[in-house]
Amino acid sequence: MAYETIIVETRDAVGLIRLDRPKALNALSRQLIADLNHALDGFEADDAIGAIVLTGSDKAFAAGADITEMQRLSYVDIFMHDFVAEWERLSRVRKPVIAAVAGFALGGGCELALMCDLVFAADTAKFGQPEITLGLIPGSGGTQRLTRAVGKAKAMDMVLTGRLIDAAEAERIGLVSRVVPAAELVETAVAAAAKIAGLSRPAVLMAKEAVSRSFETPLSDGIRTERRLFHSLFATEDAHEGMAAFLEKRPPAFQNR
Ligand code: CAA
Repeated sequence: MAYETIIVETRDAVGLIRLDRPKALNALSRQLIADLNHALDGFEADDAIGAIVLTGSDKAFAAGADITEMQRLSYVDIFMHDFVAEWERLSRVRKPVIAAVAGFALGGGCELALMCDLVFAADTAKFGQPEITLGLIPGSGGTQRLTRAVGKAKAMDMVLTGRLIDAAEAERIGLVSRVVPAAELVETAVAAAAKIAGLSRPAVLMAKEAVSRSFETPLSDGIRTERRLFHSLFATEDAHEGMAAFLEKRPPAFQNR
């Protein structure tokens, strides 16, 4: 399907979504979020897809919410439409999502990256929560997911000053999984997604669910969730196939069941 603000393609078992509003540095307009959510729904429903890569352009992953659109909105508009609620779709995707970030990932752009499971950054990437410089605060998880990811010291620095950080600092503080040369960014992310997509799908989804739960629960509940999911994988053919393949010194043939 052709979209107005994103480009969607598949690379074998990997779904690739490129944010594509070059004139506005991929600012996250209503249309873009609607397009993104539609594409995510499609990849979630498609059994041929095992993992998703979300990327932007060389210049910008996304420069945040669309300020031109937001500037016109009143409190009542924004409250009645529960503005940014629909952005959370990305955080509910069950398949793994890798953000491949080059250039600016600011405001809502940084927050979208934080909703992904892995963040791969080009050495050109710049992350920031500059909403404070607009008289706003982050509205799509920047005060919450960022703080859980990097801790209070760095989150307060970014949220209160609006300072941008480069890829090296983002990796050092735990915002980013890997930094790669810009020219290799998308291919590296697609290769990692392909690797994940080739593993046992039930195990992958449960691994994502287990790690994700750790952000929502006390340790004892998280450990219990992990143990229940670990136990339940013994009901899958894939787990027995994976263990047998190891012992027989051959590659596993996972069937996703
Ligand atoms: N919304 C709408 N348009 C944007 C935009 C945004 N967030 N970011 C950039 N643009 C537009 C610019 O207005 C400009 O358009 P024109 O050519 O028509 O003037 C075009 O994109 C290119 O931008 P610049 O000329 O500013 O490019 P630059 O290279 O000089 O600077 C930048 C790049 C540092 C990213 C700068 O554009 C910038 O600071 N953008 C805004 C970043 C920001 O404040 N983001 C937070 C938004 S609020 C938010 O996200 C709320 C939330 O948490 C949900």
